[in-house]
Amino acid sequence: MNLKKNMIAAAVAAASFGFTSAVSATELEVTHWWTSGGEAAAVKVFADAFDAGGDTWKDGAIAGSGGVARPVIISRIIGGDPMGATQLNHGRQAEELVEEGLMLDLTELAEKEGWKDIVRPSSLLDACTLDGKVYCVPVNIHSFQWMWTSLDAYKKAGIDAPKDWNEFVASAPALREAGITPLAVGAQTWQTNGMFGVIRMGLGGIDLYRKIDVERDSEALRGEEMVAIWKAFGDARDLDDPNNSIQNWNDATSQVINASHGAQIMGDWAQGEFQVAGQTAGVEYDCLPGLGIAPALDTGGDAFYFPKQDDPEKTAAQMRMASMMISKPVQVAFNLKKGSLPVRGDVDLADANACMKKGLEILKDPANIVPGGDQVFSPDTTGQLEDLLAEFWTNPDLSPEDAHDQWATIIEEAE
Ligand code: GAL
Repeated sequence: MNLKKNMIAAAVAAASFGFTSAVSATELEVTHWWTSGGEAAAVKVFADAFDAGGDTWKDGAIAGSGGVARPVIISRIIGGDPMGATQLNHGRQAEELVEEGLMLDLTELAEKEGWKDIVRPSSLLDACTLDGKVYCVPVNIHSFQWMWTSLDAYKKAGIDAPKDWNEFVASAPALREAGITPLAVGAQTWQTNGMFGVIRMGLGGIDLYRKIDVERDSEALRGEEMVAIWKAFGDARDLDDPNNSIQNWNDATSQVINASHGAQIMGDWAQGEFQVAGQTAGVEYDCLPGLGIAPALDTGGDAFYFPKQDDPEKTAAQMRMASMMISKPVQVAFNLKKGSLPVRGDVDLADANACMKKGLEILKDPANIVPGGDQVFSPDTTGQLEDLLAEFWTNPDLSPEDAHDQWATIIEEAE
């Protein structure tokens, strides 16, 4: 089934998928931070499907990254000016809002539709569940554990494209010779922290990653392996442009798309940008999950939460929206546009491209999967890690040893 048919199926399904008797066309304002080309194409799938079901999606896109949008979203909900629905990363970002009783309980819908049986890995639904109640609908699996290489840039430099991080580092001098900057990096702090997580996974392996993120094991945090990884990350600073002025992640992705840079370490939402640019995996670009060293995915991703409304029509429309977002046709159409993996295993992804197929293969083995940072660290701890990593990346006077010590202490003291 091609993408267009998927989209029509999504709209038809939304129209008929339990929405036929929408008592009234209810408008819901939906906030999110999906403003890049690929993200906008993906959010349009949700909007079209919600409208096709007889309701009205009022788009509330907030420009900038999640770090900009989340405080706006959270303060509106706490301040008594809630939107109808909002994107957040599934995990601990909404913990306090749920504990304050401000978010709609979706448990009845989740049980009626059997989300426990269709969502995989089940950790995604766990990340939406607090005290046994479900408060969000997970809509995708996004993993930061990807590196995107420009095959065009390597052609320009006249050398083979790297198959892993180590070959990439070794190719840097030849790229520079050809006037190509090896690594594309955006300056928003979440990007450097995310990039470090991918380097840590690729160079240290999944067991070390789990010992640190899940077990907070001090031996692992401060041991020789992490000393070596911090040194390698320090060296990687030389792969960036010293006067790099890029802020947004998708502007860094554009540098790979335009072959001015050799590669970017970024989550698989970058796929949406390559698609919008008309590029094909394996032709103009390639993807190296786990830095091409060992298969790994973290199950980060997005979910929609529904702030409580004092209007039963809106509450009914919120339930219709949650149901639409996890429905089969919408899951396929949305994730193919978003570059993410669907939260349900019972969908046909014949249209998945070569990179998505790599991700689906890795996803099959639970041994390859770790929780996303938003599922293990609180927003406060995440903020401290992001500030430290961003400072390390741009301040050569901050030594790997000092940064490593500060990093380990933040995680050891994390609540
Ligand atoms: C993540 C989100 C992705 C993508 C990315 C870049 O937090 O899960 O969907 O939007 O931010 O904006």
